[in-house]
Amino acid sequence: MLKPTIIRFDSIDSTNLEAMRQAKAGAAEGLCIVAREQTRGRGRLDRRWHSPKDAGLYASIVLRPKFEMARWPLISLAVALAVADAIQKACALRVDIKWPNDIQISDRKLCGILTETVETESGPAAIVGIGTNLTKQSFPPELAMRATSIESATGIKVDPDALLNELIRTFDERYESLVSETGAEQIIRDWCARSSYAFGRRVRVSLAGEDFEGSTRGLESDGALRVETDDGRLRLVRAGDVTSVRAQN
Ligand code: BTN
Repeated sequence: MLKPTIIRFDSIDSTNLEAMRQAKAGAAEGLCIVAREQTRGRGRLDRRWHSPKDAGLYASIVLRPKFEMARWPLISLAVALAVADAIQKACALRVDIKWPNDIQISDRKLCGILTETVETESGPAAIVGIGTNLTKQSFPPELAMRATSIESATGIKVDPDALLNELIRTFDERYESLVSETGAEQIIRDWCARSSYAFGRRVRVSLAGEDFEGSTRGLESDGALRVETDDGRLRLVRAGDVTSVRAQN
């Protein structure tokens, strides 16, 4: 069981950065940093995460996994499943998961997850950062066509604390299952059942210095996305950006 301790900030540079600082200072597994706004919210691939005050749930959790590092990439998939479960429970909203862990509705992004690792005196820690758009807001122009919020999708202003509590509960379940013998397979199975990107989705993959297109063919046991290119080659994607070709998102 995770023993969550929550530290709240009105404003902070980034909850992930604060969680890293706390982990380096010895924070135990389960520490959760929450902020009403971030001045330097971080996204995947060195992007920024738009984090205006009270418009989103910005939270990061410190983990000190006891399982081998080869299984750590599955943490991101487990978090995505936990977020999808929590949003369904707290907001009655069914969401999609884009590889590896974007939470979407109708091809628009509702939530992003950034998992980072940090070296600490008691060994490596994983920092799981979750940013969920809660309210209708004016997104910057580059996001306007690609982002959405729970309020835009449901018309309801969700209570951030209720969503956070649900998220901690659902993540605790998924994390426990990941620790168990058959947990990894279960996470992969559940992720594939929950994501429209798992099988037969036409995607473009952008890696550093290389772009290619193909159709998705499920996940490897370490969470890599299998993509079959038009010449029949199976490529394994462990980094970079995957976008739907049909939706051009
Ligand atoms: C993505 O690029 O999709 C990942 C975005 C992750 C944003 C969250 S908000 C809370 C936590 N703190 C950060 O600085 N980033 C993550």
